[in-house]
Amino acid sequence: MTDLLPDEVHRWNAVENIARKQFGLVGLKEIRTPLLEATELFSRSIGEASDVVGKEMYTFFDRADRSCTLRPEGTASVVRSALQHGLLSQGPQRLWYLGPMFRYERPQAGRQRQFHQLGVEYLGLASSRIDSEVISIAWDLLLSLGLKGLVLEINSLGKAEDRRNYRTCLIEWLQDNFEHLDSDSQKKININPLRILDTKNVDTQKMLKEAPLLINNLCNESLDRFEKVQELLKALEIPFKLNPRLVRGLDYYGHTAFEILSDQLGAQSTVCGGGRYDSLIEELGGADTPAMGFAIGLERLLLILGNSISNDISPDVYFVNKGYQAETNALVLSRKLRAQNISIELDSSGSAFAKQFKRADRSGAKWALVLGDDEVSRGEVFIKRLRNSHDDKSPKQYKISSSDIDQLINFLKDKIKN
Ligand code: HAM
Repeated sequence: MTDLLPDEVHRWNAVENIARKQFGLVGLKEIRTPLLEATELFSRSIGEASDVVGKEMYTFFDRADRSCTLRPEGTASVVRSALQHGLLSQGPQRLWYLGPMFRYERPQAGRQRQFHQLGVEYLGLASSRIDSEVISIAWDLLLSLGLKGLVLEINSLGKAEDRRNYRTCLIEWLQDNFEHLDSDSQKKININPLRILDTKNVDTQKMLKEAPLLINNLCNESLDRFEKVQELLKALEIPFKLNPRLVRGLDYYGHTAFEILSDQLGAQSTVCGGGRYDSLIEELGGADTPAMGFAIGLERLLLILGNSISNDISPDVYFVNKGYQAETNALVLSRKLRAQNISIELDSSGSAFAKQFKRADRSGAKWALVLGDDEVSRGEVFIKRLRNSHDDKSPKQYKISSSDIDQLINFLKDKIKN
């Protein structure tokens, strides 16, 4: 789990603002659910045989002896919340969320135990057009952030019946190759053989390249649906690659599954994952309701963005001040200027002017306000330019009467704008 220091948080905020704006354009509504849920919610939805539920959850008993889990993902919680509050009786829901998730995985670059997801869930919409719309929301958000080198991979996991048929032929193949499987996968053969397909064991992964493919077991209806999604993606001019081995690591998916990968992430290259989950709402006690969504991993997104997203958190003005009355006046004046949306870093050290000016330079502010006993006795504020502006010929320093606060506000607003 990592700390986000102030420079980083600023970059995160910039991404969040872009996401908020982009989701607003699509008319999505934000939802916030608790970090802690009943363990059963995840074991029922994500599946007992998945790595997430089997090995990665932070689960404990609370004081009333209830099994609780820090959420490892957002979809199950959003569905639980929509059911609990009857949102689905108000018609389809287009929701988004952002927040920390927890998985006890082996940490490495792009993989943390507390990480953040930016997710979208469409509840109550069945059409294949929705699949391509949801994919386009993820794709367009990543493009609007300026990302390049992205690859969209899609697959169809078909209907429950398709997966049942496939399960039989996969079990047969796995049993024939039993001795080559890692021990974890061997245990899953009769519990949930499909979960073996997303094993993290490299040797098993290699050998699974020969395994039968789900796509070859899909019924015509499922294949037609998948065909339609592809046509729509073409109409939207979103390039994609078919990946018949893409199964996703969570049990609730059927039909369209997709991932967006970046060529800049190394081993943890998936920046976004999602798909259709038409049976989850019913499994969690609701009516039969189709759904589709995705989640973007924010840590990975910020890794790819690197320095292309600004982390400038400099104040507009650094306030240098020294002397008993000067320090009081500076405090009062700072409050008035901040109320006018001018950001001020007020030096509260009482140290020598030279030291304060050094800090002013380091702060990144373009302007310094200066108040000392001399300025107080003359009823003035001294203003000094710290950085060169476009207009280099303008004076480097100014004096303004401290009683004319409006003049000072207008002067600073004008200078900051330029
Ligand atoms: P997921 O594929 O498990 O799907 O996670 C989505 C994304 O979260 C991944 O592609 C990755 O970027 C990020 N992520 C996952 N685990 C970690 C980690 N340990 N460290 C850093 N980033 C991570 C889901 O969670 C589904 N709920 C997505 C979804 C929404 N499907 C339908 N609706």
